[in-house]
Amino acid sequence: MKTIILDHPMIEHKISILRNEKTSTKEFRELISEIAMILCYEALQDADLEEIEVKTPIATTKGLRIDENKYAFVPILRAGMGMVEGVLRVMPNAKIGHIGLFRNEETLEPVEYYCKLPKNIEDKTVILLDPMLATGGSGAAAITMLKKRGVKKIKFLSIISAPEGLKRIQKEHPDVQIYTAKCDNELNENGYIVPGLGDAGDRIYGTK
Ligand code: PRP
Ligand code: URA
Repeated sequence: MKTIILDHPMIEHKISILRNEKTSTKEFRELISEIAMILCYEALQDADLEEIEVKTPIATTKGLRIDENKYAFVPILRAGMGMVEGVLRVMPNAKIGHIGLFRNEETLEPVEYYCKLPKNIEDKTVILLDPMLATGGSGAAAITMLKKRGVKKIKFLSIISAPEGLKRIQKEHPDVQIYTAKCDNELNENGYIVPGLGDAGDRIYGTK
């Protein structure tokens, strides 16, 4: 599946502020949330609509609604949590699950430490959230965890991706649609995206 990359002057503008090492924790968090909201809006382009009857003060008419119960947002802890507020603005009634993964700093392999998903997750479309898709190890592992629990439809929202990570998800999970705000040049020897924005978790939570 072809990756959908947001192509818009406002995204370029916001990503440049995110990248800047001088951007405050508060502004960084707000921008992650705003871009997540835009990615989510894009990811819901193919949402199914059902007809409903709406009574306006003037007349009764046909309306359309999305069954929000058919969706779950799943952030990859911890940086993915920074995207939750933004996606909930688009779909406030979706359920939320959590997957805990961190990268071993030497091997760059993902280490699983938590998984709690909403009831009947196998019947929902899961929108997986992680601002950074670097080697793709964490994303691929999170998708495998979801599939093992019966999830059939997964969309992955990332803010900055590396070509290596995009290729890995496309190869290991070709059924997953990726939406990203930006595809950067490469990874450095420590597995960081270049130019990237540094460590997303540390910048969201001000831990370094
Ligand atoms: C970061 C990021 C992704 C992962 C991406 O998390 O939020 O989950 O690295 O790298 P990958 O594509 O090479 O797996 P990190 O492991 O730093 O954990 P944190 O969110 O707790 O800071
Ligand atoms: N995780 C991050 O937070 N940033 C990167 O550049 C790569 C992985």
